[in-house]
Amino acid sequence: MKMQRLAKMFLGATLAVSMLAGCTGDNGGAASTDGGNAGSSTTTATSTTSDSGNTDTAPAPANGTKVGVSMPTKDLQRWNQDGANMESQLKQAGYEVELQFAANDVQQQLSQIENMISNGCDVLVIAAIEGSSLGEALDMAKGAGIPVIAYDRLLMNSDAVSYYATFDNYKVGTVQGTYVKDTLDLDNAAGPFNIEFTAGDPGDNNAGYFFNGAYDVLKGYIDSGKLVVVSGQKTFDEVATPTWATETAQSRAENILSSYYADGTNVDVWLCSNDSTALGVENALAANYNGTYPIITGQDCDIQNTKNMIAGKQSMSVFKDTRTLASQVVKMVGQIINGETVDVNDTSTYNNGVITVPSFLCEPVFADADNYKTILIDSGYYTEDQLK
Ligand code: BGC
Repeated sequence: MKMQRLAKMFLGATLAVSMLAGCTGDNGGAASTDGGNAGSSTTTATSTTSDSGNTDTAPAPANGTKVGVSMPTKDLQRWNQDGANMESQLKQAGYEVELQFAANDVQQQLSQIENMISNGCDVLVIAAIEGSSLGEALDMAKGAGIPVIAYDRLLMNSDAVSYYATFDNYKVGTVQGTYVKDTLDLDNAAGPFNIEFTAGDPGDNNAGYFFNGAYDVLKGYIDSGKLVVVSGQKTFDEVATPTWATETAQSRAENILSSYYADGTNVDVWLCSNDSTALGVENALAANYNGTYPIITGQDCDIQNTKNMIAGKQSMSVFKDTRTLASQVVKMVGQIINGETVDVNDTSTYNNGVITVPSFLCEPVFADADNYKTILIDSGYYTEDQLK
C-alpha cells in the first residue's frame, strides 16, 4: 500500500475518535464475565456505549497491506499467545504480517522495528520491553508516516504513538486489592494481618498502575495497622521486579522470608502484581516457609499459575483474554487504514510524558479455582489437558 495514501487516511482517522466502552472480541469468550469482586471504580473515563469489538465488519485491506507486530519476549507465556493471536487474526482479516519477538533485549527490539519500517510495514503494533527506549524507531516510523499502536504497554516519551490498546491496568490492581480486602474481611475482622508486596518491572508503564490499583484499596488498612507490612517494603521502587523475572521475585521473597519470617511469624498475604512474579513467591514459600499458607494474587492465568490455583497454592489471578485484545487491535488497524473513526474509550488516562494517547481499555476478569473452568476451558483458551 502506498505510504502517502495511508498517511492521508490516517490523518482522517485521527480527526475522528469515538468513545466506546467494553471490549468484546467475538472470540473473546470470557470477556463478558464481570471483574469478580472488584466492585470499585477505576481512574479511567469510560462510557457505556456498547461495542461490536470484532473485526469481521471491517472492509478487507488493500492487497499487500502489511502490519509489523513487535512483541517483547517469548519467555513469558502471555506474549507467545499475544503474538500468535495477532498473527492469525491479522492474516484472517487479509493482512500480511511481520511478527518478531525481541528476547527481552531492547536493542534487538529497536532493530526489529527499524527493519519492519524498511520492509514496508504500513502499520506498527508494538508491545515494548521498555516503554521509554524505542524513541529512535518511533521517530523513524513517524518520519515515514507509519501509524503506531502501543499494544498492552504504553510507549513513553514520544509523540509518534497514534493509539493504545490495553486492559484496564489500574482495575487489574483494584481487583487484586479488593480480593484481599474481601477474603480477609478487613472491615470486620480484628487482624492485624501480615502482608508483603511484589510488583512488576519499573520499565513497564503498566507496573505502576497495577501496584497503585491494589495499594489504593489496601492503604487505609495499612495506615490503621490492620495490615502490617512486616518487611517495611511498601513503595513501588522497593517491591518492583526488573523484567518481571520469576527468579528475581523468588530471591527477593527468599530474603524477606529469612529476614522477617524465620521466627515462625505468618505471612497472611503476598500481593503479587502478576503470575510470573507470583510463581517466584510460590517457589520461595515452598522451600523456605512452614507457616500458614498466604493469600497470593496474580495476573494472566498462565498455565503453571492456573495449575497452582487448582492445587491451592495461588488464590486468584486476573484473566486478560489475549484474543480479545488482539481482535480490538486488528479492528483498530482496519479503522486506521480505511480512514475511519477509531474506537477508543479513554482519552485522559494515558499520558506518555509528551501526549495523552487515545486508548481502548479492555476489561480484566477475576479468576480463581471456582470459575477457571468457565472462563478458561469453556471459552477455549486452554484445554483441560493443558491444566493437568
Ligand atoms: C502485562 C502483564 C504481564 C507483564 C509481564 C505487563 O505489561 O500487562 O499482563 O504479566 O507485563 O509480562
